[in-house]
Amino acid sequence: MSLESNASNCRAKEKFLQIFEGRKFEMLRYDTIPSEKPDWYDHDQFLQGQDFYRRFSVGILFSKFMSLVLGLFFPRLLRPLMFTRRSERPLDALRRYTATGMHVFLWYTRDPWDPDSKSRKSLQEVTTMHRHIARMGETTQGRQKIQEAMANMDTDYLGAVEEALHCFQEDTSKLQVPDSEFFACLHSQLKEEEEAMELPTLSQFDLALTQMGFFGAPLLYPHRVGIHGATERDWEGFIMFWRTMGYLLGIDDKYNLCQDTVAETRELLQVCCGYFSWQVHVDCSLAATFMAFTVVEGHRKLNQGLRLKPLIVYASTIYDIKMEKTRKSMTWHEWFCYMKIWRFLRYGWNSDSAAADEQQFLHSEHSLKLGLAHN
Ligand code: HEM
Repeated sequence: MSLESNASNCRAKEKFLQIFEGRKFEMLRYDTIPSEKPDWYDHDQFLQGQDFYRRFSVGILFSKFMSLVLGLFFPRLLRPLMFTRRSERPLDALRRYTATGMHVFLWYTRDPWDPDSKSRKSLQEVTTMHRHIARMGETTQGRQKIQEAMANMDTDYLGAVEEALHCFQEDTSKLQVPDSEFFACLHSQLKEEEEAMELPTLSQFDLALTQMGFFGAPLLYPHRVGIHGATERDWEGFIMFWRTMGYLLGIDDKYNLCQDTVAETRELLQVCCGYFSWQVHVDCSLAATFMAFTVVEGHRKLNQGLRLKPLIVYASTIYDIKMEKTRKSMTWHEWFCYMKIWRFLRYGWNSDSAAADEQQFLHSEHSLKLGLAHN
């Protein structure tokens, strides 16, 4: 690592530590979302962020979906989702995440500062939901609901879920995480505090990690999620958009993942990815796999091409996480689904580049496995 990149990595780690401090603080700072704009707000950049969404909505939405599935492997995000018991069965999960999609669509297309806009109403509704969950999580009744959700698992799926979990655990146990000592130390600190019940159910740190799910993959690996040809101005706009959404949803500026510049935000996201890898390395659970399976099964009602293993393998590849055992365990049908995601996101809807790259694909390891390679 060069001196310069070493220095930027240290800076990003320091910033991450500051965000990690947010684990001690409630995620909600207000009952009503703020009406005053923060000093850093730039309306032109915000509009640029919304325009960026209009042009790249498919990649942005699909990457959000993949991050959601991966995000279930963060126990702190999984637990609140389990105790609301709104995503235990595939159709419930589909309804719940379609609702999320509708909210996010309103944020991307309306003005959140206009007191009568649908975006503002939606942000207020979501804040109220979060507040309710934060309160519920602190009660014994809330904790019991998690046990109930586990007991209520659909046993029809249990075999498939356990088989997938076995593969995931074999892969995640072999993960080589850069800076692993740094993350191990933070992780054990967080576990101890959780066991001593010293942390709020929904914290500022949790909000920041969730915020990453909405914009992290497009910003770090645009080509892997189907975003081709974005400009620096686009990235500035996208960051301004998510910085504003974070602010409106209650993230204190100190804990907002979106920084002043694109480069700083990317550096910080890299550290967050390391933390995420460490997290799945130590905590790949049956509950998380079950919920991920349910979410994917639900969405299969909309798109038959979705399957858990191909989605996890593709989503992990985005973040450079190798899932060899899972990859090798996929059936022909799952390989086909993987190939569809891969082709769709890498080449999207640009037919010229798709035709050229298809040739390359036909000689790749995936096509050998599928028996498609040309002689
Ligand atoms: C920037 C961060 C976040 C964003 C943008 C966000 C977005 C949303 C949206 C759009 C909804 C409405 C979904 C619906 O109508 O069903 C929602 C609800 C919810 N959110 Fe968040 N959220 C964030 C952070 C979090 C965090 C950190 C947690 C938990 C640790 C969380 C847990 C929930 C839960 C449990 C619900 C209620 C819906 C359900 O019952 O499943 N959210 N969130």
